[in-house]
Amino acid sequence: MPSHPNNSPPPPPPMSTATTILLFLLLTLNIPNCQSISPESLKFPCQHPHHNSYPFCNTTLPLPIRAQSLLSLLTLSDKIKRLSNNDTGIPRLGIPPYEWWSESLHGIAVNGPGVSFDAGLIPAATSFPQVILTTASFNRTLWFSIASAIAVEARAMYNGGQAGLTFWAPTINVFRDPRWGRGQETPGEDPMVAAAYAIEYVRGFQGEKSKNDRTGTENKKRNRRRRVLTGGGGGGDDELMVSACCKHFTAYDLENWGVYTRYNFNAIVTEQDLQDTYHPPFKSCIQEGKASCLMCSYNAVNGIPACADQDLLQKARTEWGFKGYVTSDCDAVATIYEYQNYTKSPEDAVAIALKAEEDIDKALVNLFMVQLRLGLYDGDPITGKFGKLGPRDVCTSDHKNLALEAARQGMVLLKNDNKFLPLQKNVVSSLAVIGPMANATSTLGGGYIGIPCSPTSIVEGLKRYVKRTTHASGCLDVSCTSNGGFLEAVSISKKADFVIIVAGLDLTQETEDHDRFSLLLPGYQMALITTIAATSEKPVVLVLTGGGPLDVSFAQGDPRIASIIWVGYPGETGGRALAEIIFGDHNPGGKLPMTWYPESFTRVPMNNMNMRSDLSRGYPGRTYRFYISDIVYGFGHGLSYTNYTYNILSAPNKLHVFESMKTKSRNILQQKEGSSNYLYVDEIEEHCDSLRFQMEIGVKNHGPFDGSSVVMVFARVPGSFKGAPMKQLVEFESVHTGSYSDAKTGIIVDPCKHLSIVNEFGKTILPLGDHILMIDDLEHILSIVM
Ligand SMILES: *[C@@H]1O[C@H](CO)[C@@H](O)[C@H](O)[C@H]1NC(C)=O
Ligand SMILES: *[C@@H]1O[C@H](CO)[C@@H](O)[C@H](O)[C@H]1NC(C)=O
Ligand SMILES: *[C@@H]1O[C@H](CO)[C@@H](O)[C@H](O)[C@H]1NC(C)=O
Ligand SMILES: *[C@@H]1O[C@H](CO)[C@@H](O)[C@H](O)[C@H]1NC(C)=O
Ligand SMILES: *[C@@H]1O[C@H](CO)[C@@H](O)[C@H](O)[C@H]1NC(C)=O
Ligand SMILES: *[C@@H]1O[C@H](CO)[C@@H](O)[C@H](O)[C@H]1NC(C)=O
Repeated sequence: MPSHPNNSPPPPPPMSTATTILLFLLLTLNIPNCQSISPESLKFPCQHPHHNSYPFCNTTLPLPIRAQSLLSLLTLSDKIKRLSNNDTGIPRLGIPPYEWWSESLHGIAVNGPGVSFDAGLIPAATSFPQVILTTASFNRTLWFSIASAIAVEARAMYNGGQAGLTFWAPTINVFRDPRWGRGQETPGEDPMVAAAYAIEYVRGFQGEKSKNDRTGTENKKRNRRRRVLTGGGGGGDDELMVSACCKHFTAYDLENWGVYTRYNFNAIVTEQDLQDTYHPPFKSCIQEGKASCLMCSYNAVNGIPACADQDLLQKARTEWGFKGYVTSDCDAVATIYEYQNYTKSPEDAVAIALKAEEDIDKALVNLFMVQLRLGLYDGDPITGKFGKLGPRDVCTSDHKNLALEAARQGMVLLKNDNKFLPLQKNVVSSLAVIGPMANATSTLGGGYIGIPCSPTSIVEGLKRYVKRTTHASGCLDVSCTSNGGFLEAVSISKKADFVIIVAGLDLTQETEDHDRFSLLLPGYQMALITTIAATSEKPVVLVLTGGGPLDVSFAQGDPRIASIIWVGYPGETGGRALAEIIFGDHNPGGKLPMTWYPESFTRVPMNNMNMRSDLSRGYPGRTYRFYISDIVYGFGHGLSYTNYTYNILSAPNKLHVFESMKTKSRNILQQKEGSSNYLYVDEIEEHCDSLRFQMEIGVKNHGPFDGSSVVMVFARVPGSFKGAPMKQLVEFESVHTGSYSDAKTGIIVDPCKHLSIVNEFGKTILPLGDHILMIDDLEHILSIVM
């Protein structure tokens, strides 16, 4: 999407007069053209007494019948009009206008024209931390709860005519390159984590039961999946509270770098990378999350624009069981012609985009089905299940506390020399807070924000603990192009008991349509930090804002910078959460969901989509799974005020894939790459369930603070398979332990899923031999044999 509609939209494609007319045609057909209608009072078509006699209004009929019935009442012109995000309605059938485009990435956002904060009784909505920070909690319950809370606020705003019911979140592209301006919107660099986040967000948002209520059904999941794969069952007519959208499908993660823009970019992706990195989050979002919308991206993948790739979009339906509507990113259909030169004429672009959806009628039935599942046609919302939600359900103290909880749980303590933090409450007599983001409120939310309920700045948060808190920005703004404010900053720092410097990024440095070129702090920020650190009496605390990784190696080794905390874009409660951490009211437990690379990484061409390293070309690879060079901070790094140790209490040492099969049939299934043996996972599917096991893990807290720690289990496969990851995350679980106590957790390992890898041809294989399971520096050998 383009940024806030009040800001400049993405640069329009260069147009000749001839194409202007054709483009008009395009924009009519093009699904979202990203221009707005104001959501006027929303009416329901199936109201007594005028329009309730149509079969599509008959609630006793199955939804697919109702959708088909509605379709049968439409003329071709009606049909074409309904393919845009701005649906103008069909008065003769009582169908009101509907704006499909609303946004809800981490709270109801202003970016979509379906949302309006000044058209009703709801002036603000809870602003949760930007997704990258919430991800750092590695807490699925938290992710689910946030999505549920946003759904409540969404319904409340819809009831008041201030939002639609179809929202274009979550963003689940992997954070592939540290320069990417939209990395902040993602759940990090690991496909498994992104998949887990997608599932929780979609389930929470669309109104599924909570995670705890559904654990009983986990075992049935595999069977259900098979049914979907064979095309039976599924139905896809479950009720939706609001509709979530998995975006942007696929291999999209570059805004504007060199000659490449997201509109013209042709991502060259290997089958191996597609299957084990780019696709898994989308597959889970659809298969397990059951998202009702999938958004195709602007870019092309291996020469075919994503929105024109019939195989890709059909794969989602036939293989992953997708039941919902496909939307293009804003003007993505137009870019098929304008930027990608994929078609000879704009008409062809439309034709191709629709062909990828098979045809208009199918596309419309998909749209109607989602509207029917949302109850959009059925009567007065006040009598509906969600109809009572209103202003008092938005910005509630529960929701604001949840936002606070997310900011607390996500913040990552990167460095803490000699237990410098926490500072002692009531002992610190004065604080100096330095930096251009320290006094900010509106920019603490990152991209895709709305109007926050009651935002607090970092300075305000700290003032709750220390009355004598002073502030100097040091730099005029985050780009920090002058050192003119240094003197004032030095002067107030010298007078204070302790000094906290808030540095890092905001949306002027990284956002939609704007990638970074450097991983260093902007402008004079580094000079500001070192100057303050050198002149302050005591070591300083460095707080880093922003979604993208920063090369702060200068601060890592500097003893005058005692502690470093990454706070991402912490949302409206961020100032308070940070202060609680600094003064020990919350023990930090967040872990980085992405690798922090050094500045030298910027030599890597951003348009190179390969995940795997290639030493012959000096290409270091990407993410903790494949990157082979120096790091600043690694994926999963994060300290706490206490010290945890882990212990594997139980896990098998050996698994037999075929307990009872005859040797001959086993040998037929065994494959060989070099001297390494493996099995194709799709050939042993019926054995997968019997291979699943629970790993029991003990967590011991050796310190004087209660806290949550994220247990991460990684695995390394045996043998020498081409392109095998150095290690990959199997599972994670956030575990709470009291001070000086211990706790246990059980992690289910599904070898077919967790211990398999994807080969060069995109096939999932299970290597035979000794797999290594790892937790921190603990290693456990698990031998998988025939
Ligand atoms: C609704 O559909 C049911 C089932 O076909 C039918 O029996 C009923 O008469 C219909 N109601 C109306 C109001 O048409
Ligand atoms: C959207 O629809 C409304 C009518 O509901 C119309 O007034 C408006 O011009 C449309 N906007 C665009 C960009 O097509
Ligand atoms: C996960 O988040 C939920 C919701 O905020 C919280 O209640 C729970 O304590 C968290 N789990 C851990 C282990 O911290
Ligand atoms: C598309 O064609 C135009 C005009 O021929 C050319 O300027 C542009 O570079 C081409 N774009 C791509 C992505 O090939
Ligand atoms: C901090 O922000 C508040 C509220 O916007 C403003 O009143 C105050 O002057 C600012 N302080 C500094 C030092 O910039
Ligand atoms: C954590 O505590 C254990 C047990 O007391 C100790 O052996 C270990 O060295 C400690 N680790 C750190 C990083 O302090």
